[in-house]
Amino acid sequence: MKPTYDITKSYDWNYENGPIFTGKIPERKNPHRGAGHSAKKFKLWDFELNSPIGVPAGPLLNSNWIKLYAELGFDIPVYKTVRSVYRECHPNPNCIYIQRRDQLTEDEIGADIVGNFNEPKNSREITITNSFGVPSKSPQEWMADIEKANSYMGEGQVMIVSINGTPGSGTDIVSDYVRVAEMAKEAGAKIIEANYSCPNVSTGEGSIYSDPEMSAKISQAIKKAIGNVPFMIKLGNFKNPAKLEEVAKANAPFVDGIAGINTIKMNVYNEAGEQALPGEGRLGSGLCGNAIHDIAQKFTENLAKIKRDNNFDFIICGVGGIMTADDFAERLEGGADIAMSATAAMWNPLLASEFHEKFGDKFN
Ligand SMILES: Cc1cc2nc3c(=O)[nH]c(=O)nc-3n(C[C@H](O)[C@H](O)[C@H](O)COP(=O)(O)O)c2cc1C
Repeated sequence: MKPTYDITKSYDWNYENGPIFTGKIPERKNPHRGAGHSAKKFKLWDFELNSPIGVPAGPLLNSNWIKLYAELGFDIPVYKTVRSVYRECHPNPNCIYIQRRDQLTEDEIGADIVGNFNEPKNSREITITNSFGVPSKSPQEWMADIEKANSYMGEGQVMIVSINGTPGSGTDIVSDYVRVAEMAKEAGAKIIEANYSCPNVSTGEGSIYSDPEMSAKISQAIKKAIGNVPFMIKLGNFKNPAKLEEVAKANAPFVDGIAGINTIKMNVYNEAGEQALPGEGRLGSGLCGNAIHDIAQKFTENLAKIKRDNNFDFIICGVGGIMTADDFAERLEGGADIAMSATAAMWNPLLASEFHEKFGDKFN
């Protein structure tokens, strides 16, 4: 399984040279187009889409990546999280494999795990840790690139732009989230997602999701600033569903969608027992891919129940451990309105096509 992102090379190398894809773009068997098919499409707010699946914030580094994955049938690609200021990436390596075939349990969250470069052989073997630290090009660069990326969206597709506030950027964190949201809107973002949950930063913005008051304060300010642009927030996992309910309730008046989960923070060592990823503050690194499937599925189901119980109208974006077409279907059946795959989509870029082939008539 050859990933589109070369994990042996730097983020900047991949930004300039990726994505790596030499295969053929599969022909789209779209049930909603062509003679004899109804014009029915999947509706997400005011957007009429070919399907409810996409790639979440992360693997799609710039417009070149967005273009390829849109062509591959990921109808809701997310532009990798951007900031109001330039931010360098953590040093390479940024992704390593975790040799783990079973599911992570809630009790193991935050425990020690071992990573290496032994390549996986199939989707169920792909669990990785990733740690980039939410790098960002300068606003001037990403704003121009977002306009380009939007131009690559085909009929029935829409791109989301992910944003992150930056502590120490010259203003307080609420104002900085607003500032970067306004920049994204100005650049032409059709939907904006605020990342409140990156475990790979040491400056505090990664734990906003677990603070009902702070997250709601930021959400309220962003929504006020961006007006009618649909607004989503990205959460991490909660061991306690009551806490998730608290956060959902606090944010519900201001958000149009809730996405989750982000990666799960673990302590990652190499086989010699040393910190696996180089640099200060990088022992803790986010786990993603197959091993977080069960925890992420549960998150979607819990959030769907909270939504039903409280009559909320936000949409749910299911993310985490979606490795196969069946996993997409399971997440959508579990209460997600849209569902996205990051790790599996990197190692199997044909995943969207497999979903459309198997479930096109049911979900698209
Ligand atoms: C290479 C990579 C980079 C990521 N970068 C971001 C990011 O910039 N912002 C964000 O909100 N999540 C980021 N994530 C997290 C994913 O959006 C997703 O929440 C997580 O990987 C779980 O999904 P998965 O199991 O399908 O990988 C990244 C994930 C990967 C694999």
